[in-house]
Amino acid sequence: MQAPYTNLKTHHKWVEFSAEDTTLNLSNASVEQLQEWKQQLSAEYDNVLARKLNLDLTRGKPSAEQLSLSDAMDGILAGDYITASGIDVRNYGGLEGIPEARAIGSDILGVPVENVLAGGNSSLTLMYQTMAIAHQFGLAGEGSAWSQEGTVKFLCPVPGYDRHYSVCEHLGIEMLTVAMTSTGPDMDQVEKMIAADPSIKGMWCVPKYSNPTGVVYSDETVERIANLGNIAGKNFRVFWDNAYAIHDLSDNPVALANIFEACKAAGTEDSVIQFASTSKVTHAGSGVAFIAASDTNLKFFKLALGFMTIGPDKVNQLRHAKFFAADGALSAHMAKHAAIIKPRFASVLKHLEAAFSDNDLGEWESADGGYFISFDTRPGLAQKVVKLAGDAGVKLTPAGATFPYGKDPQDSNIRIAPTVPTVDQVEEAMQVFVLCVKLASVEQALANS
Ligand SMILES: Cc1ncc(COP(=O)(O)O)c(C=O)c1O
Repeated sequence: MQAPYTNLKTHHKWVEFSAEDTTLNLSNASVEQLQEWKQQLSAEYDNVLARKLNLDLTRGKPSAEQLSLSDAMDGILAGDYITASGIDVRNYGGLEGIPEARAIGSDILGVPVENVLAGGNSSLTLMYQTMAIAHQFGLAGEGSAWSQEGTVKFLCPVPGYDRHYSVCEHLGIEMLTVAMTSTGPDMDQVEKMIAADPSIKGMWCVPKYSNPTGVVYSDETVERIANLGNIAGKNFRVFWDNAYAIHDLSDNPVALANIFEACKAAGTEDSVIQFASTSKVTHAGSGVAFIAASDTNLKFFKLALGFMTIGPDKVNQLRHAKFFAADGALSAHMAKHAAIIKPRFASVLKHLEAAFSDNDLGEWESADGGYFISFDTRPGLAQKVVKLAGDAGVKLTPAGATFPYGKDPQDSNIRIAPTVPTVDQVEEAMQVFVLCVKLASVEQALANS
């Protein structure tokens, strides 16, 4: 069995105390030593309080500088509203989206165009709609609605994305947690749970640069997820939210195996539904979202969608298609995003390395893409660290947000989102973050001594 995510990290040496160049070896420290550290750290913390900072590491959204990369989309149609195949995008219709937009989704997700629908601005909306449709009407026709089978449960790899949990909660779907490992969800646990409980109807997955751990699912994990449809009942659906499919920071990004192909090989095409969007590619509030699925899933999705809309915003879809029309335009555009984000990630990682690579005060994964870095404090300290940082003017995502029902059983996970602040602001915020982790850890050790 895979070790849990939190046990896989390798940062276990002793830290250098910033002010005194002192090693913060909490486990072996005497009470006197702990008291002395507490005094020093508290004095530093008081200095920070006096600076009345106002910094924010909560928001997983593009910075204004990133948004500006796509401003040329504005006016790009220049009065030409007709697609290559003659569709007037100003008019009603075209439930599946225009072919050019579906082609972008096909590129991002590695799925044939026929199996991709290009929708409105939000993949979260598509996920909500898909889940609501699966629950109430079913994605495989007569008799496939989850609601007909009583209790419905979903597997949630943790830590994960809070809005996935909100969708389940809103639709009355129970959530069961599964540990994340450095290769994806703990698949031994997943397979065991699904085999034992037919009321588990699906699982959330963010397979590349997972929110918040940054983990990319290994080839073996992808293959095992594709095979889940052979273990679970026919109405089981993995929600494969590939929100960060093209959001690489490294020049040699790890490739994610193609789940569509893997499902085909396993004979489970209906068991996985994929999602993506250009929210963090172009303008976050006015991108294009995609759903990719088997012919059957797409047929029943569209059947229900047809009651909700006559068609998506095709004008915006055509703007995107024109913006990315040139060969290589999309990857060149993503490289510009990476150039902006990279120094922010580097700053976060630099501070974590310097403060915690030599001790057991915190653990993290260094992500090569996506929008987040996930940090685990010693158990029982996340809420305290978030409060200390907040009081010192550094806003962090509320502790617990990365777990269903907002409850982190270990109270240790904190999501760091460094894209919006400037590099200088990230630097300053991380100094405070590190200080708060140290202070909370020393106070806890003192209380337990
Ligand atoms: C994993 C994940 N999925 C979906 C979204 C939202 O996507 P959209 O803007 O397409 O609704 C986010 C936004 O942070 C996300 O992190």
